[in-house]
This record gives sequence, C-alpha cells and structure tokens, in this order.
Amino acid sequence: MITLRQASSTLTPPINPLLQISNKTTPRPSRRRRPHSPCRAVLQWSRKPELSGETPRVVVVTSGKGGVGKTTTTANISLSLARLGFKVVALDADVGLRNLDLLLGLENRVNYTALDVLHGDCRLDQALVKDKRWPNFHLLCISKPRYKIPLAFGSKTLIWLVDALKSNDPPPDFILIDCPAGIDAGFVTAIAPANEAILVTTPDITSLRDADRVTGLLECDGINDIKMLVNRVRTDLIRGEDMMSVLDVQEMLGLALLGVIPEDAEVIRSSNRGYPLVLNKPPTIAGLALEQAAWRLVEQDTMNAVAVEEEEPRRKGFFSFFGG
Ligand SMILES: Nc1ncnc2c1ncn2[C@@H]1O[C@H](COP(=O)(O)OP(=O)(O)O)[C@@H](O)[C@H]1O
Ligand SMILES: [Mg+2]
Repeated sequence: MITLRQASSTLTPPINPLLQISNKTTPRPSRRRRPHSPCRAVLQWSRKPELSGETPRVVVVTSGKGGVGKTTTTANISLSLARLGFKVVALDADVGLRNLDLLLGLENRVNYTALDVLHGDCRLDQALVKDKRWPNFHLLCISKPRYKIPLAFGSKTLIWLVDALKSNDPPPDFILIDCPAGIDAGFVTAIAPANEAILVTTPDITSLRDADRVTGLLECDGINDIKMLVNRVRTDLIRGEDMMSVLDVQEMLGLALLGVIPEDAEVIRSSNRGYPLVLNKPPTIAGLALEQAAWRLVEQDTMNAVAVEEEEPRRKGFFSFFGG
C-alpha cells in the first residue's frame, strides 16, 4: 500500500508519477467481474434498497479541504434517500457559513435554527425545515448565516441535538451532517455524534493530504466506517495523465469507495438554481452518480474503481464513470 506521505514525496514535475500507479501495478478488473455495474443499479431502481445497519444512521460528510463538494453531496444524497422513502434529516453544521439551505432551495423557509431551540425560543420540531416535495425530509440549520457560534456550543451540544432528533416518533432513518472545512472546533463538533462518515475528496494532492489527515482524526474519534466519494473526476484529464485516477486515490487513502462523481457543469447550474441535481429531469451524469452513491450508502455497499483506458475506449459511454 502506498501511503499519502510516500506518494506526495515522489511528486516531481512535470508529470505526476502517481498517475502511472494504476496502469502499472493494479490489475485491470475484467468486464465480467465488475459487480456493481450501473445497468444493474438502474434496473434495481424499480425496488427499494434494503436498509442495512442499525438506525438511525448518523453520517457525517467531511473532507478537511473546503470547496470539494461536501454540501453538494449532503444535499443530493439526503434528497435521494428521501426519494427512496427513508426519513432523513440533513443537519447543516457549517456554522456561520451555512449554504445547505441554498442548495436545497429552502433558504426562505428557515425561520428557526438549532441555536433558537437551545435558547428556548422554539421547539425542535419548529426548527426542522420541511420540504414540500418530500414530507419525509427535514433540514436543520445550527445558526443563522454569518452568526458567530457561542463558545458553549460544542460536541456535547450537538450530541444532545442529535439524540433529540433520534427520539422523534418515528425516528429518522438517516441524519446527514454537513461538516465545515478544516479540522478545528467546528469539525470536532460536527463529527461528535456520527458513527459513520463519507469522506469527499477531489483527485488532487492537497485534497488527498487533508483527506488522509481527516481519516486519522475520524478513526481517533472511533469512526471506523469511512467511505470515500471522489468528486470532480475528469476522465479526459486522467487519460492525458493530468489528473490522478480513482484507483490512485483509493490506493493512497485505502478507503472503501462509495462513489465517483464526474465534473459536471450541471452541478453548478443546479446549485445556483437551488434545485438539487438528483431531481433533474432528464437525469444528469453527476446526478445519477450521486443517486447511486445514496443507494450504496443505504445497503452499506461499495464500488470498485476501474482503470481509465489510455486510449479512447471503443464503447466510450455514459456509464464508464461507474465501472460498468
Ligand atoms: N461534480 C462537480 N462538478 C462541478 N462542480 C462541482 C461538483 N461538485 C461540486 N461542485 C462545485 O464546487 C463548489 C463547491 O462545492 P461545495 O459542495 O459547496 O463544497 P464544500 O461544501 O466542500 O465547500 C460549488 O460551486 C459546486 O457547485
Ligand atoms: Mg460546504
């Protein structure tokens, strides 16, 4: 196993030698043996995925580095889960810089926040923002935008809040926590109530270094169920050896792979419209990839990374991202 530290020390311009790892050392999986093909997943959409693990499942979406797609992931996976029929609470723990409400198009509906609950100004159910489209989906924001978090707000408070959410009748199946960037107090608070994590990373060395550091911190906190989501992947750059492949990323971080999300201009368009990508019709490639990641999360399943062919594959397809 190549560690991130070894890998980063071998980074020499002009071409990143990491890009050759997958092609040289990792056997290319044969087509027949790829178990999680998207075709199978698409066919599966006629049934509900089987919920695995003890509920409520509390999942923190984290990364270390900012701007890699944590909030996009939280919004889209939460809504996918709600669409699949699960009861979901998306908790925006990015205090002061919250934007999950914007991505979900719910910014005008946030009347109360978790801090109002703690101050005794409202009940918890009043702070849960309902979505007209999905009655089984709720958003909970910790604070108002640009609000400075009080010093007393820490891990214990968030654990108390999550416990209060869990004691609702019926309790949610999933509580997804959108974690702030960095590894300071906000991060420590956001991961405290979680028992599993989605680590979002992009295939670049700065994001991977932060992801590696965050993995260590999560494990120290007792969160060992960590799956990674590799975001903003561009096969054209991987083919030209200008971007690390997903295999390289997986080899460096040594984590199970929940999903691979391609770079897609539709993500930015949908963020600006406040209309989550997974609701787009017709579906977009990144939206489908996020929906598949949600499916895998439910079933505690993972996917295999596939090597990107150096030459243009003959059947270059829509599903090449997904290993199909
Ligand atoms: N797969 C993607 N393709 C294109 N743009 C993306 C993708 N994922 C995220 N983005 C864009 O990256 C920016 C940062 O995403 P965001 O989810 O806010 O990151 P974070 O919460 O980690 O700071 C946003 O403008 C978002 O639209
Ligand atoms: Mg964010």
